[in-house]
Amino acid sequence: SAEKAEYTARIKQLLREKNAVLVAHYYTDPEIQALAEETGGCVADSLEMARFGAKHEADTLIVAGVKFMGETAKILTPNKRVLMPTLEATCSLDLGCPIDEFSKFCDEHPDRTVVVYANTSAAVKARADWVVTSSIALEVVDHLDANGEKILWGPDKHLGAYIEKQTGADMIMWQGACIVHDEFKTKALEDLKRVYPDAAILVHPESPQSVVEMADAVGSTSQLIKASQELPNDTFIVATDRGIFYKMQQLSPNKHFIEAPTAGNGATCRSCAHCPWMAMNGLVAIAEALENGGAKHEIHVDEALAERALKPLNRMLEFKG
Ligand code: 13P
Ligand code: SF4
Repeated sequence: SAEKAEYTARIKQLLREKNAVLVAHYYTDPEIQALAEETGGCVADSLEMARFGAKHEADTLIVAGVKFMGETAKILTPNKRVLMPTLEATCSLDLGCPIDEFSKFCDEHPDRTVVVYANTSAAVKARADWVVTSSIALEVVDHLDANGEKILWGPDKHLGAYIEKQTGADMIMWQGACIVHDEFKTKALEDLKRVYPDAAILVHPESPQSVVEMADAVGSTSQLIKASQELPNDTFIVATDRGIFYKMQQLSPNKHFIEAPTAGNGATCRSCAHCPWMAMNGLVAIAEALENGGAKHEIHVDEALAERALKPLNRMLEFKG
């Protein structure tokens, strides 16, 4: 629409004026993803977002995604200004893993290496030995297991169960879940697969174990996009946030992408394969953030906390550069 075009033009100008770059996640609106690409920013999974922001020479990063992504960017580049369209875009995994309780859990198991998912607060990261994203979690835990280390994993129980099964590592787990991926239903997926027997099933590992078990490919958003290009199938059933369809369809215009079912019994789901916090990112909010910055948009992380959280984050980035 004309209004969208106006905001897009304004954001482009603001990015230049403020020497800023837009770093977006695959779950944000298509127009945000397109804008990030057009303006020399990036659209990526959470690990690639962290790497991109850390390497980029801009003074300001505007992170379109959820809060932990902005916090990670700030911890990795404390001298940059990190803005977000809204600081209210959180994540159910972060919300479900408060630092006091998590820290107590860690204290009860001092013999274990603490590995946390990137979808956590800066305080939880600061308590960890390693931070991982879904694209690298398997390899890191495999490496730790090979060293004979026992793992305390948090917060996503499904990703944890998947890693435990794949690696055979000794893991105890925090019982968190993503409200979006937790809704995918096995029975309805089996029914759908019967309708499309030649379809490949792509699953983000935050989904329940029984859904992951049906997958032809399991991985981070970037890894699932790659699988959608590389697998020979014409049809794909995709169990992750529907924001990802924009890039999949763009890269494979002749392939057919279908959302995995979120309500097996016809009941209404809470989130219907779209993260309510990712949905808070919009063009108007991006323009506002760039124009005004301030308490509504700028990420601050306590310095002492950031210093501690940097160590496990750097371990992840250096594990496989
Ligand atoms: P990715 O690292 O796969 O982009 O996942 C981030 C996320 O929040 C998935 O729900
Ligand atoms: Fe968090 Fe799930 Fe949203 Fe990803 S999709 S940001 S894990 S609530």
